[in-house]
Amino acid sequence: MPTFSFSTKNPASVDADVLVLPVFEGPQAGPGVKDVKGLDLLAVYGGAGHTGKSGESLLVPNTGIEGLASRAVLLLGVGGRAAATPDTCRRAIGRVAPQLLKQARVATTLPQIAGRAATDAIQATVEGIVLGSYRFDRYKSSANGQVRKLEDLTVIGPERWDTRAAKAALHRGEVIAEAQAWARDLVNTPALDLPPAALGEAARAMAKEVGLWCKVWTEAELKKGGFGGILGVGRGSVNPPRLIELRYEGGGRAAPIALTGKGISFDSGGLSIKDASGMETMKCDMGGAASILGAMRAVGILRPKVNVIAAIPSSENMPSGSAIHPGDVLRHRGGKTSEVLNTDAEGRLVLADALAYLTEQGPRAIIDTATLTGACMVALGEELWGAFGNDRRLVRDILEAGEAVGEPGWELPLHEPYRKLIDSEIADIKNIGKRWGGAITAAMFLREFVGDTPWVHLDIAGPAFTQKAGDYWPKGATGVPVRAIVRYVLSQAGTRRR
Ligand code: BES
Ligand code: ZN
Ligand code: MN
Repeated sequence: MPTFSFSTKNPASVDADVLVLPVFEGPQAGPGVKDVKGLDLLAVYGGAGHTGKSGESLLVPNTGIEGLASRAVLLLGVGGRAAATPDTCRRAIGRVAPQLLKQARVATTLPQIAGRAATDAIQATVEGIVLGSYRFDRYKSSANGQVRKLEDLTVIGPERWDTRAAKAALHRGEVIAEAQAWARDLVNTPALDLPPAALGEAARAMAKEVGLWCKVWTEAELKKGGFGGILGVGRGSVNPPRLIELRYEGGGRAAPIALTGKGISFDSGGLSIKDASGMETMKCDMGGAASILGAMRAVGILRPKVNVIAAIPSSENMPSGSAIHPGDVLRHRGGKTSEVLNTDAEGRLVLADALAYLTEQGPRAIIDTATLTGACMVALGEELWGAFGNDRRLVRDILEAGEAVGEPGWELPLHEPYRKLIDSEIADIKNIGKRWGGAITAAMFLREFVGDTPWVHLDIAGPAFTQKAGDYWPKGATGVPVRAIVRYVLSQAGTRRR
C-alpha cells in the first residue's frame, strides 16, 4: 500500500512524478489548473480535442514549464462542474489508476471539485486509486505486467481545509478500500479453494489481525445449536458447513448492530440443479458473506464507538446421495420449520438460522446482504441492490449510506398480500413462492426469523459480481456493499437507538 498524504501547498510547487488536475466540461479549468503559470494547460487540453467529459484525460510532460515542480501533469476530464460529487472523484481517479500506479509519487487537487463534501471526496479519491488498481492475478503463472511503483499519493487542499479531518479521511479511504479489495479476493477465489471451512479460517486469521473476537462453529456445534438450515443446505457436499461469528466491542454496554451475509461457497442449485451457464459464476454466492467480513475488517481497524456482531452462515449447495430433496422439511435455529420445494432457493435457508441467532442477541438492528435472487437482478439490473426492511429509519439510513459512498440501492416493497405465497401445507413456511415477485417472497421468508427487531435485507445478486469492467473495478467481484455497511456502522458510532 502506498502512503497517503495531505498538503496545502500551491499545486504548481508540489514536486511529484504526476500532478493530476481535474478539468470540467467546457473545457473549464478545475482546481490547480490556473496555478500552473508557465503554460496554458487548458488550451493544450482543448487543442487535443477534449471538452472535459469524464474519461477524457491528457498527459502533459513537464518540458521545462516555468514554475511547475512536477515531472508531468495529467489533465483529467470530470464532466460538469455542478454535478461533481465524491463519486465523481472515485470514478475519475479509478479510471486512470492503472496508469498512475506506474509512477512513484502522485499528487492531486481532485477532491476540491466536490464543494462542501471535501472529506468524503478525499476518502473517495483514495478508494478510487486503491480499488481502480485492484487485480486478481493470484492464479496467473506469469505476472501479467502490472507495474506497481506508487509510493505516495498526496491530496492537495486549500489552506482553509482542516488538516486533521483531511488526514482522517485519507486513513478511512485506505482502510475501507483495502478491506473491500480483500473481500473481492474472497469472492474471486474459486470454490475449490474456498469451501466453508477455508472461509472460516480466512475470517479467523483476519479477526486475529485486526483484533476481533471470533468463533467458527463446526458442523457438530451447529447440530447441537439447532441450525437446521445451514446443515440442510450443506448436506450434499463433502465440504461441511460453518457459521462464522465475529464480535467487535467499541460501544460499552449498548446493544450491538448485527450483520450477516449469505456464504454459499458454491451454488450448483443442489438437486434442483442449475444449468451449466447458470453455474458459471456461482463461486460468487458467498459475496454477501465476503462483504460482511470486509466490513468487519474495516471496523476492526477503524475502531468506532459502537458494538457490532456478525454471524455468517456458510454452506456448499451440491447435489449428491446425501443432499436434501425437494419436499424435505428443515428445522431452523429457534424452532421454525421450512419446506424446501426448490433446493436452489438455499440462501434464505442458511440466512434464516443466522437471523434467528442474531435476533437472540438483542441487537439494535440487523442488516443482511445476500446474492439472493435472480428476480432482484431482473428488477434493478446489475448496479443496484434491492433493500427490504421492517423499519423505516433503518431502510432510510442504509439507502443514504449507499448513496453517499457510490454503492446505491433501491427499496422494494414487502407487499403484504404476497406473504401467503410462501404458506406451506405441512411446515411453518415454504422456501419458494411464485416466479413473479421472487425477490419479495425471498425477503418475506427472511423476515419470519427476525421477530420485531429492526432489520434490513440487501439483495446484492446484481452488483456483487460483474461481467463488465467499470471505472474502478475489473470483471468479477466488486466487493459491494462493503463501503455502504461501513458507512452505516460509522454513522451509528456514539448514537443510541430510540
Ligand atoms: N444464488 C442464486 C441467485 C443468483 C442468481 C445470484 C444469479 C447471482 C446471480 C440463488 O440461490 C438462486 O438460485 N435463486 C433462485 C431462486 C428460485 C429457485 C426461487 C433464482 O433466483 O432463480
Ligand atoms: Zn444461491
Ligand atoms: Mn440457489
